[in-house]
Amino acid sequence: MKKLNVGLVGAGFMGKAHVVGYSNMPKFFWPAPAMPVMKTICDIVPEIAEESRERFGFEKSCTDWHEIINDPEIDVVSVCTPNNAHAEITIAALKAGKHVICEKPIAATLEDAKAMAEAAEEAAQKGIISMNAYQYRRVPAVDLAKKFIDEGSIGKILNVRCTYLQSWSADPSSPLSWRFQKDIAGAGTLGDIASHVIDIAQYLAGDIDEVTGMMKTYITERPVQEGGVDLLGTVKLGDNAEKKPVDVDDEDSFLVKFKSGAVGSIEATRNAWGRNNFITVELHGTLGSLYFNYERLNELQVCFANDPDDRRGFKTIYTGPAHFHGDVTWNIPGMNIGYGELKAIEMYEFIKAIAEGKQPSTKLSVGYRIERVCDAVRKSAESGCWVKVED
Ligand SMILES: NC(=O)c1ccc[n+]([C@@H]2O[C@H](COP(=O)([O-])OP(=O)(O)OC[C@H]3O[C@@H](n4cnc5c(N)ncnc54)[C@H](O)[C@@H]3O)[C@@H](O)[C@H]2O)c1
Repeated sequence: MKKLNVGLVGAGFMGKAHVVGYSNMPKFFWPAPAMPVMKTICDIVPEIAEESRERFGFEKSCTDWHEIINDPEIDVVSVCTPNNAHAEITIAALKAGKHVICEKPIAATLEDAKAMAEAAEEAAQKGIISMNAYQYRRVPAVDLAKKFIDEGSIGKILNVRCTYLQSWSADPSSPLSWRFQKDIAGAGTLGDIASHVIDIAQYLAGDIDEVTGMMKTYITERPVQEGGVDLLGTVKLGDNAEKKPVDVDDEDSFLVKFKSGAVGSIEATRNAWGRNNFITVELHGTLGSLYFNYERLNELQVCFANDPDDRRGFKTIYTGPAHFHGDVTWNIPGMNIGYGELKAIEMYEFIKAIAEGKQPSTKLSVGYRIERVCDAVRKSAESGCWVKVED
């Protein structure tokens, strides 16, 4: 079986998720399209680089990502750094002929996102595969929603209502990680989590054409975090820690018009006590409705207009062996999958794309379009007007 040597840059939360994905992929998908080999892991913090080498089973560690790009033995690069480093690493990797999976949002600026999409197109001419890690469209229940839509089971889509609500930054004493700094993150909630539901909305209902919205920053300063590693609010620094300004958004709400004529709304916040990874998508069509909530990710709710009056209502379909890759994960309905299996499914899609020489559905131009929607939201929040998404 063909082996693919992996170089992974950024050994934090998503570094771990990519390793879980690569190493579990062949356990579910066998024969695997190719075998990922954990070759080199890079983190700018030397202790993290070395510890993650041992923990995640890499052969080598380094603190400078150029070592991975310049290593002719590396076939595949996972970009799991904070957002402002995505463009430089991804473009260099693609130019060096490596296949790339880059975390979302694609970049910290629209210019970087554009340059990455262009570099990806150029590399694609030489058979190089690149992919953005918008994994939620690969949840089997979301895939099933897409199937219902494509089959016409809910008719013409009229309305798409999405939320992505989390609570981890609601506490003002949670630290000022890179996620609250514009020069590193590019955006707050908008790029971090609204981008995920923009992807799902466009995947299910087609391109968003126009937006009008609001953006708010409630917590305007936070205690400076020690060590530079985002521990997702688990580090509490006490009341005496130095505070610095937050210059990104906490919350975004916007109305959307789709090119298809459908309308809808997207709300995202990281300050919603009681909501954890509350990704919801509800679609109303002329013939029925669909509802998905990631906090119950193995379920899709469906309602069909043609059901008899006295039986009409939402019913729950539990995803399992009959659904997207369900035949290879766990073969009894109700055993359920979680985030780890989802990252294995994502890695399968990526490695299969490399093996078959076909670009995956979440190619970098998809990430660039999501950034253009985010840019329109930003402009609308400033002007108070409807703003067209750049084509
Ligand atoms: N797909 C998802 O569901 C999802 C979830 C969380 C984060 N993300 C994305 O993943 C990326 C990483 O986020 P995270 O939560 O893992 O962050 P993190 O802070 O947990 O980890 C980032 C790591 O990168 C290292 N790093 C920073 N700059 C580097 C550089 N130039 N070279 C090498 N290492 C560097 C840091 O030291 C840190 O260990 C971000 O783009 C984020 O938006 C995606």
